Amino acid sequence: MSSLFLLLAVLIAGPASMLEFRYHSNSEMEQYLLQINASNPEVTHLYSIGQSVKGQQLWVLALGLSPRRHTVGIPEFKYVANMHGNEVLGRVLLLQLINDLVRGYRDNETWSLQLLNSTRIHILPTMNPDGFDEAGTHCQYSQGRFNYNGVDLNRNFPDAFAGLRRQQQLREEKREAEVRAVIGWLRTESFVLSANLHGGALVASYPYDNSNKDSELVDGASVTPDNDVFVHLARVYSHSHASMHRGDRCDDSMPFLEGITNGYQWYPLSGGMQDYNYVWAQCLELTLEVSCCKFPPVRELPALWADNKKALLAFMQQVHLGVKGRVFDASGVPVQNAVVEVKGRRNMCPFRTDQHGEYYRLLLPGKYSFTVKTNTLNVPYGPDNYSAMKHDFLLRRVSADPTQSNLPHANLTPADPTPADPTPADPTPTFLLPQKKILI
Ligand SMILES: *[C@@H]1O[C@H](CO)[C@@H](O)[C@H](O)[C@H]1NC(C)=O
Ligand SMILES: *[C@@H]1O[C@H](CO)[C@@H](O)[C@H](O)[C@H]1NC(C)=O
Ligand SMILES: *[C@@H]1O[C@H](CO)[C@@H](O)[C@H](O)[C@H]1NC(C)=O
Ligand SMILES: *[C@@H]1O[C@H](CO)[C@@H](O)[C@H](O)[C@H]1NC(C)=O
Ligand SMILES: [Zn+2]
Repeated sequence: MSSLFLLLAVLIAGPASMLEFRYHSNSEMEQYLLQINASNPEVTHLYSIGQSVKGQQLWVLALGLSPRRHTVGIPEFKYVANMHGNEVLGRVLLLQLINDLVRGYRDNETWSLQLLNSTRIHILPTMNPDGFDEAGTHCQYSQGRFNYNGVDLNRNFPDAFAGLRRQQQLREEKREAEVRAVIGWLRTESFVLSANLHGGALVASYPYDNSNKDSELVDGASVTPDNDVFVHLARVYSHSHASMHRGDRCDDSMPFLEGITNGYQWYPLSGGMQDYNYVWAQCLELTLEVSCCKFPPVRELPALWADNKKALLAFMQQVHLGVKGRVFDASGVPVQNAVVEVKGRRNMCPFRTDQHGEYYRLLLPGKYSFTVKTNTLNVPYGPDNYSAMKHDFLLRRVSADPTQSNLPHANLTPADPTPADPTPADPTPTFLLPQKKILI
C-alpha cells in the first residue's frame, strides 16, 4: 500500500474522533459502541436490553458522570431510533450525538459537561436491527419497516385505550422480542423524558395516539392531563430544529402548524410506544419525525445532522423542567410507591415514587397543588396486642424557594420538630415554580 493511498484514506476517514457520515451496518455500529465504551469508562456504559428476533443485541449506551448507576436527583433520559427498520436517519443522528457528547466531554466543553453532570442519557440507536438489514433505500416504501416476524413494533405495545375485548386479544397476542425488551427496560429505570425517532415526515408528535372517544377527545385531538407540557416539549424540538417549526409539508403529508401535532389528530393508532411510556411508565415520550425521506442519500447526512443537532440537545435539557424530590416517612426512610399527584392532572396510572422514594414531575412554571399519598399499610391483628396499630399521618406544607434556584428541588420531608407554622397541616402543599420566559 503506497503512503499516498494511506494519506488519502486518513483524509477521507477524518481524524479518529470524527464519526463518518454514512450508514453503518449493525456490526459496524456494535464495534463503534464497544470502542466508545472501552475508551471512555468514566462517562459511558454499554449494556444490552435484549435481543432481536434474529438474535442481534439491542445495545444501549448510557452517558453521564455516573453512567453505571442511578444517582438520586439525576433524572434518567432516553432516545430510541430505528424502530421502523427503514427509517434510518435517527440512528445516524444518535451515533453523531454520542460522538459529540463524548468529544465535548474530552475537550472540556461546557455544554457537554453540564448535560453529563445533570442527566443520565440512555441511547438505543436501533430498536429494530433485523428490519434495518432488510431496508430498501426508497424514500417512502416500507420494505424493512417491520421486524423479522413482519410485525410493526409501534403497534405491538399494550394499549390502555383498547376496549376490554381488544385488551384480552392484545394480552393473548404475541409480544415481539424487541417490544418485550423495551418493556423490561422501562422497569429497570424510572425514565422521566424520552423521544422516539422516526422518518417520513417532519413533525414532533405527542400523546395520545389513541382514544376511547371519551372525555380525552377534544376537537379531534386525544388530550392527556399533561397536554400543556407535551405541547411545550414538541415546540422546543420544532423551534430548535432548522426548519420543522415552519410546518412545511413533505410531498405526501399534511402541513403542521408550528411543526407539531397531537398523535391521534394526525392519525389514530393503537399499541404505540409513546402512549405506553406515558400511561404505564410515567415517562413523557414524543415521536419525532426527523426527515421527509425515510432513507436520505448519504450526501445529505451532514446537513440533516446540522438541522437536528440543536434540537436534540435542547430536548434533552427539558428533562429539567418542573419539580423533583423525595418522599420520606416519619422516621426518615424513603417511601417507595407513594402517589405524587398534581391537582388537575388525573393520570390514568398515578405517578409514583421509585425505590429511592424519588419523584420527578415535568411542569411548566406556575403554581401547583400536590397530594402525596402513601397508601400501603400492613395492619396487624390488634386485639392480640390490646391495641390497634398506631400510625400518625404527617402532612406538611412544603414550599420550594423560588430564589434558591430555577430548578427547585423540593423535599417532602417529615415534620420539623420545632413547628413555626401554627396553621393546620395542609394536605396539598403548594409549589411556586418560578415564572420565567420560556425560550423555544
Ligand atoms: C465497557 O467498558 C468497560 C470498561 O473498560 C468494560 O469493563 C465493559 O466490559 C465494557 N462493556 C462492554 C459491553 O463491552
Ligand atoms: C479539562 O479540565 C481538566 C480539569 O480542569 C484538566 O485537567 C484537563 O487538562 C482539561 N482538558 C482539556 C482538553 O482542556
Ligand atoms: C457537577 O455539578 C455539581 C453541582 O451542581 C458541581 O459541584 C460539580 O463541580 C460539577 N462537576 C463537574 C465536573 O462539572
Ligand atoms: C403492639 O403494641 C406496641 C405498643 O403499642 C407496638 O409497639 C407494637 O408494634 C405492637 N405490635 C403489633 C404486632 O401490633
Ligand atoms: Zn416510523
